[in-house]
Amino acid sequence: MNVKGTFATRELGLAQRVRLNNGVGMPWLGLGVFRMENDAETERVALEAIASGYRSIDTAALYENERGVGAAVRNSGVAREDLFVTSKVWNPDIRADRVEAAFEESMERLGLDYVDLYLLHWPIEGKIVQSWKALEKFYQDGRIRAIGVSNHLERHIEEILTACEIPPAVNQIEYHPYLQSPVLKAFCEAKGIRLEAWSPFMHGGAILTDPILTEIGAMYGKTAAQVIVRWILQTGVATIPKSVRSERIVENSDVFDFELSDQDMSKIALLERKERWGADPDNFDF
Ligand SMILES: NC(=O)c1ccc[n+]([C@@H]2O[C@H](COP(=O)([O-])OP(=O)(O)OC[C@H]3O[C@@H](n4cnc5c(N)ncnc54)[C@H](OP(=O)(O)O)[C@@H]3O)[C@@H](O)[C@H]2O)c1
Repeated sequence: MNVKGTFATRELGLAQRVRLNNGVGMPWLGLGVFRMENDAETERVALEAIASGYRSIDTAALYENERGVGAAVRNSGVAREDLFVTSKVWNPDIRADRVEAAFEESMERLGLDYVDLYLLHWPIEGKIVQSWKALEKFYQDGRIRAIGVSNHLERHIEEILTACEIPPAVNQIEYHPYLQSPVLKAFCEAKGIRLEAWSPFMHGGAILTDPILTEIGAMYGKTAAQVIVRWILQTGVATIPKSVRSERIVENSDVFDFELSDQDMSKIALLERKERWGADPDNFDF
């Protein structure tokens, strides 16, 4: 199931989809829009990304830019079915049993008939099963093409698998060479749940100048950022790097004309240091 081999063009790679456990195809690589300035900037950047070949955009109610994403999707000139839009329900709405209302509000802001993937943003203890059942209803009504979770650990997913009808299609987690979570990864793979990597660059951190990643990149004429994206894909994980800059939007997706060797993959495996940029799903306070 890994992205292996090469594609003739960036565009072909960006359109390449991984089949989720319900048969829906999700692009391996998309654009994240966390911490973009506002809806106007988000629309501008998303339109630019789509024009350059991106087909997947990852937003959330938290990011306060669903309107910008929806406008870009509607104004892109690309058929709706060729685009893939993800959004997420934010924690206070999960705590307040407002998942249904929050979904309707997201859909109103997006201005779309359906969303491709909708996620429980964080695992709120005691609320997981009832929240999931709300997502199942919208899924069965056809307003969400695939339902999933984010930042959920094995025990949170087990709750869903035990008490609910539809298994999560995706678990979106922080994942990069410094945080490889092999146990959670193996668990999700065994359950048919596709991992998707958030903050692949640790939000623009020092990983982008890691000497091993830089050295590997130099062998292929690629940057450390491109090595990270390629490594994530070759481990069978989808990803959604964020940039507002034209040259980086292209750079981050120019990863389909080379393949990391087994030796490169082994070197990168050794970079694991359980280092997070974001919060720990076992211990967060928001
Ligand atoms: N589910 C969750 O809980 C969760 C949490 C966090 C993020 N996410 C999702 O994951 C997406 C990606 O994560 P992220 O936005 O936190 O961070 P990221 O993608 O790891 O890194 C983005 C940062 O790196 C910079 N950057 C991008 N490409 C670069 C390159 N080629 N070279 C050097 N710097 C580069 C960007 O700056 P410029 O924009 O100035 O280029 C930005 O500051 C988010 O946008 C969001 O959609 C989900």
